[in-house]
Amino acid sequence: MDDRKTLELSGRKTTSVTSSTSTKQNYIRLSQNVGVLLSSFDHIALAYDRSIDWESRLSREIPFILDEVPDEMILRVLDVACGSGRHSVALASRGFDVTGFDSSEIMIAEANKLVSMQNVTANFFVANMMEFSEVIDGEYDLVLCLGNSLALLPTFEDITSVTDEVHSILKPNGRFIFQVLNFEEIMKTGFSMFPLKRGFTDSGEEVVFARHFDHSESSEESTLVLTTLLKTDTKWKARVTTQSVLRLDRDRMAHILKSSGFDKLEFYGGYNGAPFRKESDRSLVARVIK
Ligand SMILES: C[S@@+](CC[C@H](N)C(=O)[O-])C[C@H]1O[C@@H](n2cnc3c(N)ncnc32)[C@H](O)[C@@H]1O
Repeated sequence: MDDRKTLELSGRKTTSVTSSTSTKQNYIRLSQNVGVLLSSFDHIALAYDRSIDWESRLSREIPFILDEVPDEMILRVLDVACGSGRHSVALASRGFDVTGFDSSEIMIAEANKLVSMQNVTANFFVANMMEFSEVIDGEYDLVLCLGNSLALLPTFEDITSVTDEVHSILKPNGRFIFQVLNFEEIMKTGFSMFPLKRGFTDSGEEVVFARHFDHSESSEESTLVLTTLLKTDTKWKARVTTQSVLRLDRDRMAHILKSSGFDKLEFYGGYNGAPFRKESDRSLVARVIK
């Protein structure tokens, strides 16, 4: 059943559609309808993409992703919740066969724009990772899920469903690399305010992206409050979106991964490969081998 509501985005009326029964074909059909929004990330897609220093981020993350991957291996890569496609396109430009999907229509539009700007080949589509088995088939050498995207699922059981699917589509010795926030550290230190980010849209509008956590409502999840500030001509407009974030940590993720059949688990405190320290690292980066 579709749940439609009208939203205002940058002065433009758009329609939000969520569906629990959509198939890959439905998503592709929806993605061809200009102005149809599927995800709360649609509201922040531009601010997210434009306020990140991608050169710096990719220079840390891509070497980790490709570490110990044999040169001769032609990798088939799946980027789950690929966002604006920055990792996918970086890997496609190195010759890998890359597919990415994300529930945000606008993130995928950005990813497709990046593909044409950089003149590479990568396949992107709009889909929900909770419908993984309906939208993905074939086998992959490498599956990515970066940017704390697993924690955006509604329940821990939903994460297990995704890791079950990842296990089933990985080739033997295939790798699953993901990054989530480590709530063991976050709840211990009470961390809530992310540093402000600032950037510019393609048409030169200034955008400021602010994020903070509200930890007060539940013991299993925190609310991420995302505020985008956009300057058009001389006027600033603010938009606030909230997103529930599951409180993940290493022990919870290890349990989920083992229940999905993964037993070779490597946990790091960042993309520099330093060993994970559960009480002091804010980020948990995992390389899991089938
Ligand atoms: C913080 S962004 C990370 C994007 C990208 N992986 C990165 O590291 O830059 C989180 C992404 O997860 C996507 N997302 C959230 N829930 C999703 C779901 N159920 N299925 C697919 N994508 C989802 C959002 O649309 C958003 O693009």
